[in-house]
Amino acid sequence: MSKLVNILTEGMNSPNPLSVTEYEKTGGFAALKKAVTMTGTDIIAEVKKALLLGRGGAAFPAGKKWEYMERIVCCDVPAAPRYIVCNADEGEPGTFKDRLIMDKLPLKLIEGITIAGYTFNAKAGYIYVRGEYRKIQKQLIAALENARKAGFLGKNILGTDFDFDIHIVSGAGAYVCGENSALLNSTEGKVGRPRIKPPRLAKVGLFLQPTLVNNVETFANIPLIINIGGDAYLQAGHPDSGGSKLICLSGHCRNKGVFEIPLGEVTLRDIIYDPELGGGIAGGGQLKFFHLGGQSGPIGCIDQLDTIYSYTDLWNAGLSVGSGAVVVMDESVSILEYLKSVTEFFVHESCGKCIPCREGNYHILKILRKLSVPGEAAAGDLDILRRLVGTMTGASFCGLGQSAAIALTSAWKHFKAEFEANVTAKAVSQINQYS
Ligand SMILES: Cc1cc2nc3c(=O)[nH]c(=O)nc-3n(C[C@H](O)[C@H](O)[C@H](O)COP(=O)(O)O)c2cc1C
Ligand code: SF4
Repeated sequence: MSKLVNILTEGMNSPNPLSVTEYEKTGGFAALKKAVTMTGTDIIAEVKKALLLGRGGAAFPAGKKWEYMERIVCCDVPAAPRYIVCNADEGEPGTFKDRLIMDKLPLKLIEGITIAGYTFNAKAGYIYVRGEYRKIQKQLIAALENARKAGFLGKNILGTDFDFDIHIVSGAGAYVCGENSALLNSTEGKVGRPRIKPPRLAKVGLFLQPTLVNNVETFANIPLIINIGGDAYLQAGHPDSGGSKLICLSGHCRNKGVFEIPLGEVTLRDIIYDPELGGGIAGGGQLKFFHLGGQSGPIGCIDQLDTIYSYTDLWNAGLSVGSGAVVVMDESVSILEYLKSVTEFFVHESCGKCIPCREGNYHILKILRKLSVPGEAAAGDLDILRRLVGTMTGASFCGLGQSAAIALTSAWKHFKAEFEANVTAKAVSQINQYS
């Protein structure tokens, strides 16, 4: 039986993904037509039943987020303008599935965002697209124009009194701008640094107005949920999370790219070795480890290969879905070298707003460099490393600093010997030795 599904990627092989006519041939815009006959509350009820977990990395249930947003716009600030924002920053290394959706299924994404616009009676939506995705940005602009011409965007959509339009914002080129509040600051033309929360963005978001922020893959699932209903969508997935998942395979596996898999039915072994998926290790080498969910996700080892790829099973094994990235590394890779490059990334991308992340990543990198050289590191360095990780994880202002050491701590458990290989018995007590 095939390990692949095409629930979300249905219609992906359209000869012209920007054409509304082509999109309608595969059922495109049927969900929007249905949605405008429903109330916002009914739409939210379907999204809740679907148990769609946010696909941006944090796996927050979309239904809960939408329900909270409804409370804000109906009860707390009913007169305020409200915005729908699609997070298409896709800055997580090893992650390239949102690009596939925007490239091959741009109208499905537009339909999902428009349904959200209708649900919350918003007038404007924004897609914040990674700055490097220039070609995608142009394509989205063309797809939006086609949707406008066909009456699916603009004034009186489908003959109703619903007016809604979507605008493209080019990302600022910083990883932290994918964090939802930094993304809103960047969209407003400010420096892309995270905001303090609360207040939640649903209450005080873009231009300080109620705002819904969801990931590309999350929005792209909405038309399907409306078409088949939340219950059927949940059934197509796993009891803890409806639907399928796009995963991005890269590194030392034979087959690389984006694959749509059913949640709860394939193991990590299938993902790496099945001929339809990763196809095994290129060049016939041995697997050493795999890195899930991007640089901020955990590293797993061969003992965990039989873990089922579902949100709960991965979580119980100390792993996570995150962004859907699966980076496969063979035995030629030194774990310390790999972690140094991960930490260099965070040193580069830390926005510098808070000390635990700005200084913590830098000092972690220095210790990793020492640990890589025989005789450079002492036993006390490992204690300092442990303390640094604890402080950075617990005291950083935003998710970047809070999750920057997840790869390190997970790898430390699996590859303790490599961490200790170069350490001498000499004690180190002064943290300022690294300043
Ligand atoms: C440093 C950092 C970078 C992030 N980058 C992205 C990103 O590129 N794309 C994305 O969808 N979410 C990203 N997120 C998560 C967003 O803050 C937010 O949770 C997400 O857009 C919500 O959408 P979802 O609920 O549909 O997943 C990032 C979070 C952090 C802390
Ligand atoms: S944790 Fe602090 S320094 Fe790091 S990116 Fe977030 S706000 Fe900036």
